[in-house]
Amino acid sequence: MARHLDSRLRTTPRFTLRPFRRRDVVALHEAVLSSQKELQPWLPWASSYDRSVAQRFVRDSAAAWAEGKAFDFAVRTSGDPNHHLGNVSIWWTSRQNGIGEIGYWIRSDMTGQGVGTEVTARAIQIGFEEMDCHKLVLRIAVGNVGSERIAERLGFTFEGTLRDEVKIGDEWVDHTAWSLLDFEWSDLYGKLRADGVLA
Ligand SMILES: CC(C)(COP(=O)(O)OP(=O)(O)OC[C@H]1O[C@@H](n2cnc3c(N)ncnc32)[C@H](O)[C@@H]1OP(=O)(O)O)[C@@H](O)C(=O)NCCC(=O)NCCS
Repeated sequence: MARHLDSRLRTTPRFTLRPFRRRDVVALHEAVLSSQKELQPWLPWASSYDRSVAQRFVRDSAAAWAEGKAFDFAVRTSGDPNHHLGNVSIWWTSRQNGIGEIGYWIRSDMTGQGVGTEVTARAIQIGFEEMDCHKLVLRIAVGNVGSERIAERLGFTFEGTLRDEVKIGDEWVDHTAWSLLDFEWSDLYGKLRADGVLA
């Protein structure tokens, strides 16, 4: 398994993915605040978000990347590189067994345009082709229909329901677990290229 990823810019047909930089704090903070209502039901960190949380995220993200533990990508377009569109991340849950997990969010005024599908497809490609993963997983809060559609469109198999996985506000929320295995990648890659989701 590859421990380290280089920090070069990666592209999709419409977007760019790159590691966070210190000067991304303002754009990240703005994107989360503008999307807070839609992020809060699914992502516990979104409810009390301020500049210091964004600062800590960028700092921790650089450290985790350098240690080869987790790789957070800022999603942008080349035409408007300072406008933050969302995050897609991939991190090891078991390096020994080659298992990685993917997470994502897209700013609310950009949802419904295939951004989530396209950047998650690129993260899958990074997982199999650069990190040499055997298995990639998604964990999705029950009721998050948009995220479930991304899992289905990207060929993930539903594995089951994990009870009380995360506390959001005062409520415990179940997650569904989804997975994709390395031998499923080549067929999926062909399909995603044919659909224009991957370059
Ligand atoms: C879930 C999320 C990532 C979807 O991003 P997106 O850019 O809108 O996704 P896409 O446009 O690629 O849509 C993927 C599919 O889901 C469908 N979809 C998206 N949002 C939906 C919603 N709220 N309800 C029902 N379907 C939805 C789209 O129609 C599309 O379906 P199709 O493939 O049949 O055309 C985005 O809404 C988001 O960031 N939500 C808040 C944070 C979050 O839930 N993150 C994921 C945690 S697991």
